[in-house]
Amino acid sequence: MEMIPTMHYQEAADYLLSRINGQPETAIILGSGLGSLADRISEAVVIPYGEIPHFVKSTVPGHKGNFICGKLGERYVLAMQGRFHYYEGYTMKQVTFPIRVMKLMGIKNLLVSNAAGGINNTFKVGDLMIIRDHINMMPNPLIGQNNEDFGPRFPDMTRPYDRQYIALMEEIAAGMHIPLKKGVYVGLTGPSYETPSEYAFYGKGGADAVGMSTVPEVIVARHAGINVFGMSVITNEGYHFADDFVNDGADVIAAANRAAEVMTSLFTKLISMI
Ligand code: HPA
Repeated sequence: MEMIPTMHYQEAADYLLSRINGQPETAIILGSGLGSLADRISEAVVIPYGEIPHFVKSTVPGHKGNFICGKLGERYVLAMQGRFHYYEGYTMKQVTFPIRVMKLMGIKNLLVSNAAGGINNTFKVGDLMIIRDHINMMPNPLIGQNNEDFGPRFPDMTRPYDRQYIALMEEIAAGMHIPLKKGVYVGLTGPSYETPSEYAFYGKGGADAVGMSTVPEVIVARHAGINVFGMSVITNEGYHFADDFVNDGADVIAAANRAAEVMTSLFTKLISMI
């Protein structure tokens, strides 16, 4: 696997910086059904991925493919409306390309969101879960020659999700009377949903929720020294199956849509405080 030259990331970063109207410190990746946070961004500059040098386009229903830069509350942010998934056939280097672009743009904090299946049997559809740790079951995006411009060969993953931001979010949610779960996210390649035995298997391994994204971006962000906060919307329950139950992508997106408003409020407040 050829290493992507730093210049490619730099050209994309320079292009984005030339288009936007402020210097964002925080970037947000909006997962399935959660793209409506972007509607709250004022003075928005919308940049389709297709216009950015070296970017690939997102193809999944429920995912748009735009960078949106503008103000969320009083802060300039850079939002990704739609991300790249490994199951779409992109390489891990493509999936995580935007993260290194963000790094070169001066981004210090990354907020990631996703739709996830609940494994923990206390989690219900519509619950929001702070990601306190992850289990990576996908190919590691840092495999291959290390790009020393971004970080070390063997990056630490002891605390991938910033402890201070987790504590802050717990305070924010308590103040807004929004109940939050906290747990471990396991990232799988998908695209098939898990069998009942697979949900149970990952639960025994310590996972509370399961999804097909986020972990690659978090690994590459931590490699580059970006602070990370993550939140999952529980869109389905992988611990009890009625005889006629089927996992369905449209239901997952609908459940994520319903939670988007609350998550947007929480993210907006967190961003105002970091
Ligand atoms: N499994 C994997 N990914 C998911 C799920 C799930 O149950 N729900 C939403 N994304």
